Amino acid sequence: MSRRRVAVLISGSGSNLQALIDAAADPSYPAEIALVISNKADAYGLTRAQNASIPTQVISHKDFPDRSQFDAAIQKALAEHTIDIVCLAGFMRILTSEFTQKWFGKMLNIHPSLLPSFKGMHTHQAALDAGVKIHGCTVHFVVPEMDAGPIVIQAAVPVLPDDTADALGARVLAAEHQIYPYALKRLCDGTLKLIDGKVSKSKQAVHEYALFNPLPNVVK
Ligand code: GRF
Repeated sequence: MSRRRVAVLISGSGSNLQALIDAAADPSYPAEIALVISNKADAYGLTRAQNASIPTQVISHKDFPDRSQFDAAIQKALAEHTIDIVCLAGFMRILTSEFTQKWFGKMLNIHPSLLPSFKGMHTHQAALDAGVKIHGCTVHFVVPEMDAGPIVIQAAVPVLPDDTADALGARVLAAEHQIYPYALKRLCDGTLKLIDGKVSKSKQAVHEYALFNPLPNVVK
């Protein structure tokens, strides 16, 4: 089976991009990272892509009068690179309904909370403020409403008594790096599908869609 061609859209550090690049370095991984697009010219993720010899494009939202023309420029780049799947990884722009509908079922996002809790920004501080004892991250399909699409996989991490938003965020980020390559693999190898807007998984994969850290059987 040929590898699916994946574009990763970023705005910043790109540590999730790096996790995807590292996973795709294995020839048996069912996806190749074929293009990285950033809306910011100084995003460190561009350097990560260049280090891996992946084509990059900077498409700044500031160069376009409205969202639809910005999205059209992204669409043009995706078409030029014959992209099959899009991964949002710290991409800080809201995409138009038209764009998200066009890519429905073929576009994933990673969000640093256990959705549907804590949508939007500053999720780690929000989790601390709410006093939750378990926090985490979610990979989901992208729909027009922000952070609201069908959930693919989640990872949970503990909130520790003296946590700061930064400490908690680092714990969540490590979990993100585990689940995003996993979700992309499942989408590309055909074991994960969207049927009638719901995530369907093969029986073989069904037990693998929630990760816990620490694992429940090691919590005393
Ligand atoms: C991650 O926490 C991701 O969940 C959120 O933005 C952050 C991006 O981090 N959407 P990085 O650029 O992948 O390091």
